[in-house]
Amino acid sequence: MTKYTAKPTDAQGFVHYTPAENHTWQTLFNRQMTIMKEYACQAHIDGVDKLYLKANAIPQIPDISKHLMAATSWQAQAVEALISDQDFFTLLSQRIFPVATFIRVPEEVDYLPEPDIFHEVFGHCPMLMHTTIADFIEAYGRYALQAPADQLKRLSRLFWFTIEFGLIQTPKGLRAYGGGILSSYKETIYSIDDTFPQRKPFNLLEVLCTDFRIDKMQGIYFVLHSFEQLFELLQGNTLQRALEQACALSDLPMRYKE
Ligand SMILES: [Fe+2]
Repeated sequence: MTKYTAKPTDAQGFVHYTPAENHTWQTLFNRQMTIMKEYACQAHIDGVDKLYLKANAIPQIPDISKHLMAATSWQAQAVEALISDQDFFTLLSQRIFPVATFIRVPEEVDYLPEPDIFHEVFGHCPMLMHTTIADFIEAYGRYALQAPADQLKRLSRLFWFTIEFGLIQTPKGLRAYGGGILSSYKETIYSIDDTFPQRKPFNLLEVLCTDFRIDKMQGIYFVLHSFEQLFELLQGNTLQRALEQACALSDLPMRYKE
């Protein structure tokens, strides 16, 4: 359930945002840009640049699609505020990224559980300009569409701890690439600097056995050493074997900072 509703698009796919909505974007964008260099991976920084994301106005989906298509053959598509898993996986498998068109109200500028356009476009779309991530997300969507129902909960954890809340070790130090982190100012800093959360080397089985909450900053992050690690998971039957194994195991305990 969400209190938000999608903003309608016109015949050209454009949304007419109010000055107040553009101002919320500007606040979020400017604040995030002050910390990107120290906290975001280079692929995300480059993606923001190549998508021509700017502070002054909420980007329009047709413009995002044009740049995504040229770089990695992805597109963005306006959707309702929340869509079903089936619709989500179908779109990903077609290299279409669903984008909720609303933006959070000023009272929720620091945190909201629903994905708004700042989360979708600033958090996720820059990484879709990166070939390996773009291919991984498509393959994930295809895999999820045919996965048995009893494996879906565990499979969702793979998306959560990578595309939403993933960290990567780089020559410059630990950096965020997950859209859930990079669309939250507080969690961007917390994910890298705070002493509470665990930061573990990415381990597929452990990821599949670790549950998550959407209403708190994460207590654990999994750290890649390269994006190729993700794509390799979807080759052969590595993921299938790990899911079968995970379904026979108990979940690891969750931990969150109160
Ligand atoms: Fe997301």
